[in-house]
Amino acid sequence: MKIENVRLEVMQTLDKSMGDLLAKYLKPIETNWQPSELLPDANSPTFFDEVQEIQELAREMDYDLWAVLIGDTITEEALPTYESWLMSVNGIDQEARNGWSKWIRGWTAEENRHGDLLNKYLYLSGRVNMREMEISTQHLIADGFDIGTGRDPYRNFVYTSFQELATNISHRRVASLAKQAGNQRLAKICGIIAADEARHANAYIDFINRIFELDPSEAMMAFEDMMRKK
Ligand SMILES: [Fe+2]
Ligand SMILES: [Fe+2]
Repeated sequence: MKIENVRLEVMQTLDKSMGDLLAKYLKPIETNWQPSELLPDANSPTFFDEVQEIQELAREMDYDLWAVLIGDTITEEALPTYESWLMSVNGIDQEARNGWSKWIRGWTAEENRHGDLLNKYLYLSGRVNMREMEISTQHLIADGFDIGTGRDPYRNFVYTSFQELATNISHRRVASLAKQAGNQRLAKICGIIAADEARHANAYIDFINRIFELDPSEAMMAFEDMMRKK
């Protein structure tokens, strides 16, 4: 059997467990956190005081911390690139509305909150040249990317396992540095995003583990290739 057809069969087999995997790794939307819960409510009489507090604390934070936070935000804001890339992976079929495309949509819907929350915080902070940041974001999405995986699901899930872990680490470290700087709100913002990333990393690691069980030799080849490409 051709390698691509084996891959497709593996993806179809995993698709049968997707109901359980969705329940395990994605949170119900109605009870999931939303960006507005972590930001001042513009309807509230305390809004301007809260914004003032955000700006005072923002002034205390180091330039380097801002640089990382802006990088993290732009990365999150390029979500359209990631969703469209993943939707074209072999075995993920947008039109068939299979379990895999459900996962991508559910994952995207959760991820979409990250850039939304960080962007609003940066705007309120008064420390960021928003126009320059927005230009960078627009460039990043316009340029697209090539992560060296092609449309291969094995390579893609090796990549996403590491990618989600990398964002978890970055958000988590910004959270602890913000806490050290006495900025509890920002610590909470980055901490709650980091927790999503950890849950997503676990999902992708579970996917790739299952692939290793079903097709060990090809899974190892894909892993080796991604490690070589760094
Ligand atoms: Fe994210
Ligand atoms: Fe993520």
